[in-house]
Amino acid sequence: MSDDQQHQSGAPWRNFYGRIHGKTLNQAQKDYLEEDLPKLAPGPVTWEENPDREKLDLTARFGGKPVWLEVGFGAGEHLIHMAQSYPGVAIIGCEPYVNGVASCLGHIRRVGGLDNVAIHAGDARDLFDVLPDESLDKAFLNYPDPWPKARHHRRRFVTAEHLEPLYRALKPGAEFRVATDIPDYVRQTMEEVPRAGFEWLGESAEDWRKPWSDWFSTRYEKKAIREGRTPHYMTFRKN
Ligand SMILES: C[S@@+](CC[C@H](N)C(=O)[O-])C[C@H]1O[C@@H](n2cnc3c(N)ncnc32)[C@H](O)[C@@H]1O
Repeated sequence: MSDDQQHQSGAPWRNFYGRIHGKTLNQAQKDYLEEDLPKLAPGPVTWEENPDREKLDLTARFGGKPVWLEVGFGAGEHLIHMAQSYPGVAIIGCEPYVNGVASCLGHIRRVGGLDNVAIHAGDARDLFDVLPDESLDKAFLNYPDPWPKARHHRRRFVTAEHLEPLYRALKPGAEFRVATDIPDYVRQTMEEVPRAGFEWLGESAEDWRKPWSDWFSTRYEKKAIREGRTPHYMTFRKN
């Protein structure tokens, strides 16, 4: 199907190459998805809920708090750590992998009382459509899918298709953090993120090696370190 073709809902056809389903969910996970996910929505994001792609009212939804975004939160460890560390900020996480979303919802239940997290259980591109311009104060991209084969590099998150709408949704001065363990992902990030308008805030490659002071190491990062790969941390700003 080509890019200008559409789903019946009116949604443009967007190829998604990652995993959406993993192991069969247990009953508790199904309950989290059914009971908690609707309450945690950032607003109407899907094409079925919002066919006219009206922009979300983030001020009404989050009471005027600064809003941060985490793309591809996996099981949500970093997302929840940030929400706990910064109660004065609201964080929207998006993640299409249902098993990851279910783990994150279980974690949110166990922590209890977190009122500054919202979850879009889907593709970041659908969320970008409905985020108002200059509405986000910070964005995180932690260990995006590496797509190691050269012919798959266009599937990486750090391509114009994702970076341009992300840039539009961030406020001037907002920070965009990227962590990856794949050297070629660093190369593509350093090429494509500045091309989308962001400025890299580092001065030398040394700056890649130090995590942010409020960083929370994810499951994916721990595995990468165990397997001998080196984390890289890159900070950009929208000017
Ligand atoms: C390698 S995992 C890392 C997960 C987590 N950030 C961590 O560090 O453990 C990458 C995640 O990005 C998600 N992802 C891929 N494409 C995405 C998209 N277009 N929008 C949102 N999430 C996406 C995948 O489903 C996957 O869970």
